[in-house]
Parts: sequence; structure tokens; C-alpha cells
Amino acid sequence: MDGYSSCGKSTIAKGLAKKLGYTYIDSGAMYRAVALFAIRNGWITDQMMDEKAIIEHLSNIKITFKPNLSGVQETFLNDENVEKEIRTLEVANGASRVSTLAAVRKEMVRQQQEMGINKGVVMDGRDIGTVVFPNAEMKLFMTCSPEIRAKRRYDEMVSKGESPLYEDVLANVKERDLRDTTREESPLRQAEDAIVLDNSEIGIDEQLIWALNMFNKITGNN
Ligand code: DC
Repeated sequence: MDGYSSCGKSTIAKGLAKKLGYTYIDSGAMYRAVALFAIRNGWITDQMMDEKAIIEHLSNIKITFKPNLSGVQETFLNDENVEKEIRTLEVANGASRVSTLAAVRKEMVRQQQEMGINKGVVMDGRDIGTVVFPNAEMKLFMTCSPEIRAKRRYDEMVSKGESPLYEDVLANVKERDLRDTTREESPLRQAEDAIVLDNSEIGIDEQLIWALNMFNKITGNN
């Protein structure tokens, strides 16, 4: 499953994985974990990104996923649970920046392909259908208007007790879209054989039913 940031990919990917008994893998969390490692070491600031240091230390970054007591996958960076920390706007921006580096992408893609070697995986990201699993059984491309995505993200932040400005959140959504779609290395694009789901106007339950029906149709399941 690929698509723009904050368009609800992970909700549908998680729901689909649960219904199918598959493992959900959040590939964006891996770029976020790399970014967190880099931020902590001072290799990413507002002004600069020390590409050389990040690439040199890639082999010191071990990313794993483990389910918590409710069965929800959480992200671990060198055995430390960083699930909460990687969800900040600062780390999201850092992830968008480290994900432009070819060496970082190469390593993440290698690890993602390894995680999917036995199949039974629902993975979401930006290059899953185009680069990571070009032979995936089903490819979904999710899209949604920037304004609606910014509103959803804004509501989510407010519900967590943060007080963002809607204009800032919208500007951030647009900035990440631009970087994700125009970067040289594996830019976000729809795979030719992907099915498009524009969820601007559709609720979660409806999307999930639609995605499950699609899966059954494509794989001949029923
Ligand atoms: O899906 P997300 O917002 O957690 O992703 C964080 C950043 O990582 C996003 O800016 C794009 C990048 N990313 C990527 O380049 N390739 C992926 N497969 C997943 C995420």
C-alpha cells in the first residue's frame, strides 16, 4: 500500500492485516527511526543534514517491530521502544529528509524485502508497490486532498493535547508531498498495476470493506 502522508494508509493496512491474519509492517516507521537516531546524534538540524555521518552509521541502526499486549506493532530502535518518539512532527520531517538518501533507502528496502520473504504481510509506505514488492498480490494507492489530510492530522494532534496551527499542519503536509514526489530516489508514484483509493469522502469501515472485497477478487479468495 502506497500513498501520500497522513492519508490513513496505516489504518486501512492494519485493518486489512487483522482481517487476513497477516502481519502489518509500517515502512515509514523505519525511516522515522533512522531520523530519530540522526536527530539524537545532531546529524539533522533545521539548517543541515550530515549525510556522511548518517550513511556511515547505518549499520549501527537496528530496527525491529514487536507487538504490544494489545497486539499492536511497536517500533524498536536498537532494542529501545521508540514508538511514541517517532510520531512527532520533528521526526516526520527528519524522516522525509533521510528518505531522500539512496544508501538509506537501499538498506531499508533490503530489510523490508527480508520481512516479506514468507509473504503474509501488509506493508505501507511510498515505494512498496514500485520498488520493495513489485510482484505483490495486491497493490493499493491511497490518495486524499491535502486539506482533508491536514484537518485529520490537526484533529489527531489536538486530541493528544497539542495546540498546532492548522495553516502550519497544511504547509507541512504540502512540503512533505513535494519532497516525497520529487526526490530522485524512488519518488512516491502509483505503480501501473495499483488500484487507487481516494478516501477524501469515504469512512474507514467502508474503505476496509472495499479493500477486502478487492483482495478477495484479486486473489480469488472467498
Ligand atoms: O508514512 P510516514 O509518514 O510514517 O513516512 C515518513 C517519511 O518516510 C515520509 O516522508 C516518506 C518516507 N517514506 C519513504 O520514503 N518510503 C517509504 N516506504 C515509507 C516512508
